[in-house]
Amino acid sequence: MPQISVNLKRGIRLAQQQQDTPLLSAMRHYVQDQVKPFHTPGHKQGKGMHPELASILGAETLELDLALMYELDDLHEPHSCIKAAQDLAAELYGADHSYFVVNGTTGGIYAMIMAIAGPGDKILVPRNVHRSIIGGIIIAGAVPVFMQPEVDLTLGIAMGVTPDTVASTLQQHPDAKGVVIINPTYYGVAADLQQIIELVHSYRIPVVVDEAHGPHLKFSPRLPIQALDAGADICAQSTHKILGAMTQCSMVHCRNGYIDVPRLKAMLQLVQSTSPNYIMLASLDVARMQMATEGPQLLETAIDLAEWTRHEINTIPGLYCFGSEKLTTPGVYALDPTKLTVTVKGLGLTGAEAERILRSQYKIQAELSDMFNLLFLITIGDTADDVRYLADSLRDLAKNYSGTSNFAAMQAVGLAYPVIPEPVLSPRSALFGKTRKVRFRESIGQVCAEIVTFYPPGIPLLCPGERISREVADYCLKLQEAGLHISGPEDHTLATIKVVE
Ligand SMILES: Cc1ncc(COP(=O)(O)O)c(C=O)c1O
Repeated sequence: MPQISVNLKRGIRLAQQQQDTPLLSAMRHYVQDQVKPFHTPGHKQGKGMHPELASILGAETLELDLALMYELDDLHEPHSCIKAAQDLAAELYGADHSYFVVNGTTGGIYAMIMAIAGPGDKILVPRNVHRSIIGGIIIAGAVPVFMQPEVDLTLGIAMGVTPDTVASTLQQHPDAKGVVIINPTYYGVAADLQQIIELVHSYRIPVVVDEAHGPHLKFSPRLPIQALDAGADICAQSTHKILGAMTQCSMVHCRNGYIDVPRLKAMLQLVQSTSPNYIMLASLDVARMQMATEGPQLLETAIDLAEWTRHEINTIPGLYCFGSEKLTTPGVYALDPTKLTVTVKGLGLTGAEAERILRSQYKIQAELSDMFNLLFLITIGDTADDVRYLADSLRDLAKNYSGTSNFAAMQAVGLAYPVIPEPVLSPRSALFGKTRKVRFRESIGQVCAEIVTFYPPGIPLLCPGERISREVADYCLKLQEAGLHISGPEDHTLATIKVVE
């Protein structure tokens, strides 16, 4: 068999075994052996499942829905086929250790945070973090120190944090146990990771990277540098979001040094099921093999399609899809071109309105919408026909739809975010402490016991443990008046809010 020598951008030569899928092969062997299954799952390879569900899932899939047993290894103490599959992932991504995670990057993030911080420990995080980071901080009992990301006021989206912001926050909190960075953001914006990592390491603490949107970065020099290659200590990637694994399937990669590896493994055990779905685990094994054998070519095509589409969109009057011209702006060090953020402001539509029109009139579903933008992901699953249809539909939309009252309301809100409120308690103490409900309008000065996030823009405006300021309260009410969706508080009308007694 020929030796694989795919030259990835960081110069790794891959071993022959990257063509193998050790976990899937072990599962197939078990099925071919025609073993009588006196074990879980209860549907016994489909025989006990309702025919309607069984026919949807298919006989071959159900035969492979297996459980933990000696020859199929144990995700929590891997020593054979799962270990081999994870080791191949580590080799491919340049990690010292890689771990498969079946409850998404959310699970990986919980474990990463608990691996570096415990009750009362400070960690630095950008304010535009995904809610799983706040969740991890609550579970760990840690104390977040928020760093304000740069905000692009014309687009209304948060970009990266700058090295200067990280430096000044570290100067004020030299006792922090680690720094979390997002690489790249949902919109494909990467911060200057290398400089930030150098800075953080000068304090001898780890850099933890939420790389949910970056499992493909390794495979093209046209993409931002992946966290591990930039020197990060640990990252979690949603293989399912961008590559060929099934939904919920992610990986955590780490390197020796600043991470206590046995503690990380213990935390991964804590956040994952003792009955992980083997088909999902195998999908990680195969997604890794696919990237090792075809990744660079697949990514080349996806990037070309995305760049073609970006160019087309920018010829449509009223639409704008940002690209390399943003590289000179604060908080934007590199861009992932496969993320197409289409600004519909020029049409006088809100992002949500354009999203609904595309779904109902053109059968197109965007990844997300915010105040004035839509986000489309171009991946290794798209074709030239798909992107041509997207561009044609956007051209049609721009011709036929414009100016709404919702848009006027959104514009009145303005895009500048309020300053981060004063932290008083750890999120965990506030969440689990004695609380009471008060009218939101009368809550100013009280300590919030819930997360308040509006979609868009998805950045938490209030976290548990923060003092509710007049500025934040007014901003929340303005967003509510503009019709934005509130997420987090028990009372989603925000008439009341839980505060700490
Ligand atoms: C930046 C970011 N981090 C983490 C997550 C959580 O990832 P998962 O859905 O794989 O749990 C998401 C999900 O959207 C995300 O956007």
